[in-house]
Amino acid sequence: MGKILCILYSGGEAAEQEPRLLGTIENQLGLTDWLKEAGHEFVVSDDKEGPDSEFQKHIVDAEILITTPFHPGYLTRDLIEKAKNLKICITAGVGSDHIDLNAAVEKGIEVLEVSGSNVVSVAEHVVMSILLLVRNFVPAHEMIERGDWQVSQVARNAFDLEGKVVGTIGAGRIGYRVLQRLKPFDCKELLYYDYAALPEKAAQEVGCRRVADLKDFVSQCDVVAVNCPLHEGTKGLVNAELLKHFKKGAWLVNTARGAICDKDAVAAALKSGQINGYAGDVWNVQPAPKDHAWRTMKNPLGGGNGMVPHYSGTTLDAQARYAAGAKEILENYLHDKPQNPANVIVGKKGYETKAYGQRTMSLLTPSESIAFN
Ligand code: NAI
Repeated sequence: MGKILCILYSGGEAAEQEPRLLGTIENQLGLTDWLKEAGHEFVVSDDKEGPDSEFQKHIVDAEILITTPFHPGYLTRDLIEKAKNLKICITAGVGSDHIDLNAAVEKGIEVLEVSGSNVVSVAEHVVMSILLLVRNFVPAHEMIERGDWQVSQVARNAFDLEGKVVGTIGAGRIGYRVLQRLKPFDCKELLYYDYAALPEKAAQEVGCRRVADLKDFVSQCDVVAVNCPLHEGTKGLVNAELLKHFKKGAWLVNTARGAICDKDAVAAALKSGQINGYAGDVWNVQPAPKDHAWRTMKNPLGGGNGMVPHYSGTTLDAQARYAAGAKEILENYLHDKPQNPANVIVGKKGYETKAYGQRTMSLLTPSESIAFN
């Protein structure tokens, strides 16, 4: 029986006290007893960086890799070359950009994720982040903790979401749910930019409009939310050039992947006031180094930063769903049963989703038509 390697984050004391923190090395996605009883070698570690890490040591003979976007084992092309026994990578969550997907396609390694498992969790976080930026919440709360009380200092940069134009880059499962949740806020308009058009009925239900050109799209938005996967077509998509086309003082929320937004360009745009706020939970490197500019960057009024560690998609509710989903994928693989097509990113014969780039597809599965469901 092949080796199963699982890279998760260390949950420490919190994970010992809270067994529902399933995505940790302590609680091991709830898989340990089941796998050990079945006689599998199950290696779990949080040690993932560098050639001497447990990840790089075990990947050379592992058959199955399970990892999570919250503490990803970065499976580069180089490591894929070394991983001679690797057959399947399972992402416990959504977002498989930590794997070189093109290299996986070439080597016939399957990549599956637990599609939909945390999309509501993230959509709620996006709506919260939009509100906390627009309403200037963080500086107002910090003022209270400091013992101060100066309403005008925070009210001078606080607005209503009502009447604003909000747009999402990517209108898949999360982006669409964000639009659905924003509908009752009576925004001036809801926009989306995506190479895949929403079905007409879905667009009508939320009353959103598609904008085909990205510069044109951002120039119309008061708030831009990034909800597309990271792939070669979206890395650095929000860069210094695109930020120039944003409305001055717009707010930007990114819970998709840190590297979709250029780190230095975003920090500079916030500092200059070109954007009024930036919020999200995803970073170009995770864990983010202590001196990462996004930890402390501010707008000219000393606010506009809504950054948190990567946790929007790992609420306890989400963890229950993605742990169950990862187990189901594993079970299907081990018992040679068909996988749910919606979970397949790379199948035995190549890409089975269009979400990770506009490729010519020889294989189209039902997952394409249900991406926004
Ligand atoms: P999805 O596959 O349902 O939707 C993605 C959408 O993005 C698709 O409609 C696709 O056509 C579109 N897209 C792809 N490239 C694009 C481009 N260049 N420009 C515009 N649109 C583009 O995926 P879902 O479930 O909505 O998740 C999206 C991403 O959110 C994930 O790939 C992941 O990176 C991130 N995520 C973050 C989490 C967190 O905890 N912060 C948790 C879950 C997902």
